[in-house]
Amino acid sequence: MAEQLWSSQRHRTAISRVGLSAPARQAVVDLQLEPGTQVLDYGCGRGGDVRALQNLGLDVSGWDPVHHPKGELKPAETVLLTYVLNVIEDPAERRQTVLDAWNNTKSALVVSARLRWERNQIKGTEYGDGILTSRNTFQHLFAASELRDYVQEATGVRCLSAAPGIVYAFKSDEARLSYLARQITPEAGWLASQDIASAIAAVVDHLEQRGRLPNLEEMPQPVISLLGHLRTGELKRLTQESANPLKVEEGAKRTTLDTLLFLAVELFHGRGPASSLPLSVQLDIRAFFSSYAEACKRADRLLFKLRDDAYVRRAMNGSTAGKFTATAFYVHRRALYRVPTLLCLYEQCASIAAGRPGKWSVVKLRHQGRGVSWLDYPEFDTDPHPRLAASYAVDLETLRSSFTSYADSTNRPLLHRKHEFLAGDDPDAPKYRRLTEAEVRAGLYENPHVIGTEAGWERELTRCGRALRGHRLVRRPDST
Ligand SMILES: C[S@@+](CC[C@H](N)C(=O)[O-])C[C@H]1O[C@@H](n2cnc3c(N)ncnc32)[C@H](O)[C@@H]1O
Repeated sequence: MAEQLWSSQRHRTAISRVGLSAPARQAVVDLQLEPGTQVLDYGCGRGGDVRALQNLGLDVSGWDPVHHPKGELKPAETVLLTYVLNVIEDPAERRQTVLDAWNNTKSALVVSARLRWERNQIKGTEYGDGILTSRNTFQHLFAASELRDYVQEATGVRCLSAAPGIVYAFKSDEARLSYLARQITPEAGWLASQDIASAIAAVVDHLEQRGRLPNLEEMPQPVISLLGHLRTGELKRLTQESANPLKVEEGAKRTTLDTLLFLAVELFHGRGPASSLPLSVQLDIRAFFSSYAEACKRADRLLFKLRDDAYVRRAMNGSTAGKFTATAFYVHRRALYRVPTLLCLYEQCASIAAGRPGKWSVVKLRHQGRGVSWLDYPEFDTDPHPRLAASYAVDLETLRSSFTSYADSTNRPLLHRKHEFLAGDDPDAPKYRRLTEAEVRAGLYENPHVIGTEAGWERELTRCGRALRGHRLVRRPDST
C-alpha cells in the first residue's frame, strides 16, 4: 500500500441531504421496503437518509464512525452502505467495511459508490487507487461492473446491479430470485374485491393477464376469504365463463416468454433447482412447459441465439415495435415489452452487467458487436423532436460503460420520426406519423446528415420556411 503521507478528511465527504439519496430511493422501490422494515444505514454520515426513511415509517438506525459513532449498530433486514466505499483510501479497510456491513445484514445489502464517469467533477491528484482531492478527501471511483464484482467477491454471493453504481447482495437465493422475478415479470396487480362477484372478476383478470388461474397462495387475502371455500373445479368453471379466451391465450404466450426470459437471465446467477424459484414462476413452468428441464433448455437456446448476428438482426427487423437501422435497433421504453423476447433478453443482459439507469426513454441495441445504450429524452412525449439529455452505454464485449451528459451542450442531438420508436398501435403514434409526413412533404429530410442536432435542424426549418407549433408543422410568418 502507498505510504500514508496525508490525513484523509473523510468526514468532509458527508453532505447534508434533503430527501432520500438515489440508492435509498431505489431500495425502497425495488426491495418493497414497507413501514416497519428494519434498516441499518452503515456509514450514515449526517443522517439525512435515516430521517427520510423514518418519515416513511421504516424502523431505521444509523451508524457512522465520525458523525454518529454512538448510533445503534445492530443487524437489520436491509443494510445501506451508501457512498462509503469510495471515500476509503485503504483497500483492506474498504473490503473489511463491506464485510462489516454484510455481517449486519439479515436479508439485503445495498452498496452504492461513485462511478468513474464523475471523474471530471473531482479536482485532485492521483493517490493509491484513487484521487486525493483538493479538500483532502479521497475518492476511489468504481467502474460500473467493477462495483458488482467487488461486492460479489467480498460477500461471496451473486450480486445484482440495480442501477449504475448501485448493487444488491442478498442473504438468500429466494430473496434474490424473487427480486429478479419482480424485475423481469412484474406482477399485474390485483383488482380490488369487496364481494364474491368482484373477487371472481379479479381472478378472471389474473387469468387473462397470466394465462392461468392463480393458486390460493398467490391470491391476496380479501380474495382468499371470499373464494377460498370454492373447489378448484368450481373456480375454473366460474372464471372460464367470463374470461375472454383470446386474452387468456395472449396472457399464456406472454407468460411463457417471460418465463424463458427469467430462466435465461437466471443462468447468469447460477440456476438452482426448481424448488428455489419463486412460487409464481414454478406455477408458470408447470402450466406452460412439460418440465423445468425443458423450460431451461429452451431458455438456453434463447441465450445462445443472442450470439448469432443474423438471428438478432432478423428479430430486430421483424419487430412490430421499434426502429431498425444499419447499425442498431431503437425502441421506446413503453414498447419494450412488445419486441421479441430475444431483444428483451439482450437489454436484460446489459442491465445485469452494469445496471439500468433510472431515467431513460429509448434503448439502443447494437447489432454490430454487442452494446446497449439507454437514452434519456425527458420531453419525449411533449417535444416533437426530443433532445437527448444523457446517454448511458454498456459494451457487452468489454463490459465497459460510459455516461455522456448533454446538459451543458448548446447543440444537442435530437430525434425525428418519433412514431418509429413506438408500437404501431400506440395512441400517440398517428399524431407523430402525421407530423413526419408533413415534414417529409416540406423537404425537411432532404439533408439527413445535418438534421441530427439542434443547430442543423433549425437551419433546415429556416431553409424550408417552416416552424413547429406543438406537433404541427406551420409556415414561418416571414417565409414566402
Ligand atoms: C460520502 S459520505 C456518505 C454518507 C451517507 N451514507 C450519505 O450518503 O449521505 C461517506 C461516509 O462514510 C463514512 N465512513 C468512512 N469510513 C468508514 C468505515 N470504515 N465504515 C463506515 N463508514 C465509514 C464517513 O464517516 C462518511 O460519513
